[in-house]
Amino acid sequence: MKTNKLIVALDVDNVHKARELFHRLRGTVGMFKIGFQLFTAAGPTLVREIVSSGERVFLDLKFHDIPSTVAAAGVLATRLGVSIFNLHSVGGSEMMQRTANSVAESAASEGLPRPLIIAVTVLTSADAGTLAEVGFNLDPGILVPELARLADASGMDGIVASPREIGIVRSAVQRPDFIVVTPGVRPTGSAVFDQRRVTTPRDAVMAGADYIVVGRPILDAPDPAQAAQRIVDELEVDAANSATI
Ligand code: C5P
Repeated sequence: MKTNKLIVALDVDNVHKARELFHRLRGTVGMFKIGFQLFTAAGPTLVREIVSSGERVFLDLKFHDIPSTVAAAGVLATRLGVSIFNLHSVGGSEMMQRTANSVAESAASEGLPRPLIIAVTVLTSADAGTLAEVGFNLDPGILVPELARLADASGMDGIVASPREIGIVRSAVQRPDFIVVTPGVRPTGSAVFDQRRVTTPRDAVMAGADYIVVGRPILDAPDPAQAAQRIVDELEVDAANSATI
């Protein structure tokens, strides 16, 4: 089955706006990303609502805590029925392994689909100066592949990577089913907002992204469904082209 690679970031501050966007966009996008802005406003009820309507959710809460707490939160995310959730790889291998094991066990014993767990390496807002401030005297270009390898070895299913990092992550982890989810994607002609390094949907997928995350260019468009459809169409043209190569 062909996967719809477009994940829309539902970055809104209340449940009414989220529901309105959900109804406009369902059937067009492949997945709805709920981050902690919307989760703090709307909680797990909205996640259940979206999942029970048959659509998919990426729960972007970037867990980072002691291993048992993150593992427990991962089990609850599994029970919510999300398709993907994420955590910070700097939480370390024990945190990641325990979460992966607890999620796999609860999914198996409760007969639930196992969500994909993906790791954040270095936030795209952080540069070498930010890392030095918190005691990592490493360039992101060195740290990102290190953390990607650690995430892979700790049972993670993939990684969040900016367009610029996709290549180094793919070289660091050469497992074809290691998924790469890429934000910082801008359809041609749309505003960049505060993203520093952007690429088009087509280029992100050509560079190796399995999923792309797009927020404001869809949410702020006069017709969000049309804006989303244009991105999906662009990606399908590419899929058709690459299939003939
Ligand atoms: O509106 P925009 O398309 O910039 O939204 C991108 C989404 O991806 C936001 O929800 C943002 O939090 C998320 N994200 C990001 N960069 C990362 C990780 C997540 O932009 N490194």
